[in-house]
Amino acid sequence: MTDETAKTTHFGFQTVAEDDKAGMVHGVFTRVASRYDVMNDLMSMGIHRLWKDAMMDWLAPRPGQHLLDVAGGTGDIAFRFLKRAPGASAVVLDMTESMLVEGRQRAEAARLADDLDWVVGDAMALPFAANSFDVYTISFGIRNVTRIADALSEAYRVLRPGGRLMVLEFSQLPNPAMQWAYDRYSFNVIPALGQVVARDRDSYQYLVESIRRFPDQDRFAAMIGAAGFGQVRYRNLTMGVAALHSGWKI
Ligand SMILES: C[S@@+](CC[C@H](N)C(=O)[O-])C[C@H]1O[C@@H](n2cnc3c(N)ncnc32)[C@H](O)[C@@H]1O
Repeated sequence: MTDETAKTTHFGFQTVAEDDKAGMVHGVFTRVASRYDVMNDLMSMGIHRLWKDAMMDWLAPRPGQHLLDVAGGTGDIAFRFLKRAPGASAVVLDMTESMLVEGRQRAEAARLADDLDWVVGDAMALPFAANSFDVYTISFGIRNVTRIADALSEAYRVLRPGGRLMVLEFSQLPNPAMQWAYDRYSFNVIPALGQVVARDRDSYQYLVESIRRFPDQDRFAAMIGAAGFGQVRYRNLTMGVAALHSGWKI
């Protein structure tokens, strides 16, 4: 393939070869893994916890369900799911092993390890049979995936008929004045916080740029529908700073 025909994508605001993006994302999360949880609390002033709780409220986990949490990182979603659904089990899949290592340590401390499996893998090529999960979640992960449509198709494939997809992701504020204020915060405060706390400005610059590049609520809902899901709905969180999208394999 020549340079002229090579496919490109974005990495934050940079244009990069599609084949290079996953390695760059992996580099970011390998660098931030040991500081990931503390940085999440600092950057969002703890609000990410409320968003993850809101995800569980809408999802309403049921006893015995089998969850696949993709890009599950340090386990926040799987832990919440297991705490709400006695007898449930979960697989946390992530392409960055150091994020899973942090998560496994937290699971052992919280005595949740028995109901959890940790798998290194790619959202675009899941190492699971078709129709094998009741619920698929992905929280703050899908905007990092090189081909979002491929990840959604894989979600559809591994869910059983009647299974549910739920996505938590940063989104766009419908109010331009609020978006302006939020952009000032994101672009000025978050990279500086990354520099001070994690000594890594570039990774946090990528994080804020990737948020800005992600499709808005309606466009993302249309992508979920295009992957085959039915009854696609979304709910804004904190005025659209983040959004939950839900769909069913019907
Ligand atoms: C911002 S963290 C989110 C972690 C966790 N889900 C949460 O909500 O706190 C994003 C995660 O996505 C993972 N990731 C990015 N691209 C991926 C892919 N193609 N397949 C699997 N994991 C991916 C990264 O390794 C990282 O751990």
